This record gives sequence, C-alpha cells and structure tokens, in this order.
Amino acid sequence: MSNESPNEAPTVSREPIPGKRPSQSAVTMTELVLPPDANTLGTVFGGRVMSWIDIAAAIAAGKHARKVVVTASLDALHFLAPLRVGDVVQICAMVNFASRTSMEVGVRVESENLVTGERKHTASAYTTFVAIDGAGRPSPVPKLSPETPDEKRRYREAEKRRQARVALAADLKKMEEKD
Ligand SMILES: CC(C)(COP(=O)(O)OP(=O)(O)OC[C@H]1O[C@@H](n2cnc3c(N)ncnc32)[C@H](O)[C@@H]1OP(=O)(O)O)[C@@H](O)C(=O)NCCC(=O)NCCS
Repeated sequence: MSNESPNEAPTVSREPIPGKRPSQSAVTMTELVLPPDANTLGTVFGGRVMSWIDIAAAIAAGKHARKVVVTASLDALHFLAPLRVGDVVQICAMVNFASRTSMEVGVRVESENLVTGERKHTASAYTTFVAIDGAGRPSPVPKLSPETPDEKRRYREAEKRRQARVALAADLKKMEEKD
C-alpha cells in the first residue's frame, strides 16, 4: 500500500530515462544476387544495393523509434567490391546516433561465396532517418545508449558527422539568403 497522503503529489523519479541500446534495433538481412539484379557483366546494379541498404536501415530506425520513419538522407555510400550473381549478401544495419527526431544508421554490406565461404566487405553507407507523426511532422525518438567500445566510437563519430551536416546546411542557407 502507498504511504503517500492522498493530497501529496506522487513522487516523480529523477533518474534519467535510460536510452535504448544499438543492439536492440540492429538488423541483419540476407539476400541472394539473382540475374535480374545484375548487369551484363553479371555484377549487381548499384541501385539494387542502395535499395537493400535503405530497407535494412529503415527497419533498424523503425525498431529504435517504434514509429514510422522516412529516409532523410543517404551519405558516404561506398561500393568497395562487386557482388556477383549467386553471391549471398548480408546487409547489417545499426543505429549509430539518435538526436531529437533523427537517427543515423550505419549499414555494412558483405558478400559470401557459398562454395568457398569467402566473405568480402562490398559496401558501406551512413543514412539518416526521421521519425514522423500521423501528420508527417518530425516526432521525438528515444536516446541511444551505446555500450561496447565499438558502439561508443560509432556514436562519437556519428555525432561529429551530424554536426558537419547541420553546419553545412546552415552555411548553404546563409548563401541562399545572400543571393
Ligand atoms: C525528413 C523530413 C521529415 C524532415 O522534415 P523537416 O520539416 O525538414 O524537419 P526539420 O527541419 O524540423 O528536421 C527534423 C530532423 O530531420 C533532420 N533532417 C532534415 N533534413 C535532413 C537531411 N537532409 N539529412 C539529415 N537529416 C535531416 C534534422 O536535422 C532534424 O533532426 P533532429 O530533430 O534530430 O535535430 C522531410 O524533409 C520529409 O518528409 N522528407 C521526405 C522523406 C521521404 O519521403 N523519404 C523517402 C525518399 S524517396
């Protein structure tokens, strides 16, 4: 039974609300490169890989926010090695940083040759997703609580990238206003 008097306001905990861990929303998606995904050289179209990256990242961001999310931007997309028809592809997405309504999700794409078992890092990207409410307006997301040394490093690096994006957007806006 509560020992608070009925006229007293309930005690409000001053403990900070814990954020969500990156591992709680991490996603690994597996695909197989099929002939319609590839060009005449038998290597996959970049746009197909971008689509897998977008889907995996959207799922990770949605699991973190538990809200509808939209892609705001995709940057630092690097294709490092070709993917070939018959390769198995693993797309790993993890939230690196969460701000007020936006989240940076890092995505790593690896190929696996089913016969030899050889794995290759084939692409990486940083994406930003924004949670939206029913009216399509940006809506707050939970904080992120990185735990492992790698998660903490990714968090610090993602925060720097966000600062650079925001600064660039502000500079461009100033330039536009001058013109
Ligand atoms: C993304 C979107 C919701 C942002 O709306 P907005 O009115 O510009 O929102 P704000 O300026 O208030 O910014 C909201 C957040 O988005 C971030 N943001 C906005 N544009 C961004 C961009 N291009 N890249 C990265 N982050 C961006 C802001 O930094 C801010 O983050 P914070 O709340 O964590 O600080 C809006 O631009 C949109 O709906 N875009 C279309 C999304 C879409 O259809 N995607 C699919 C592509 S086919």
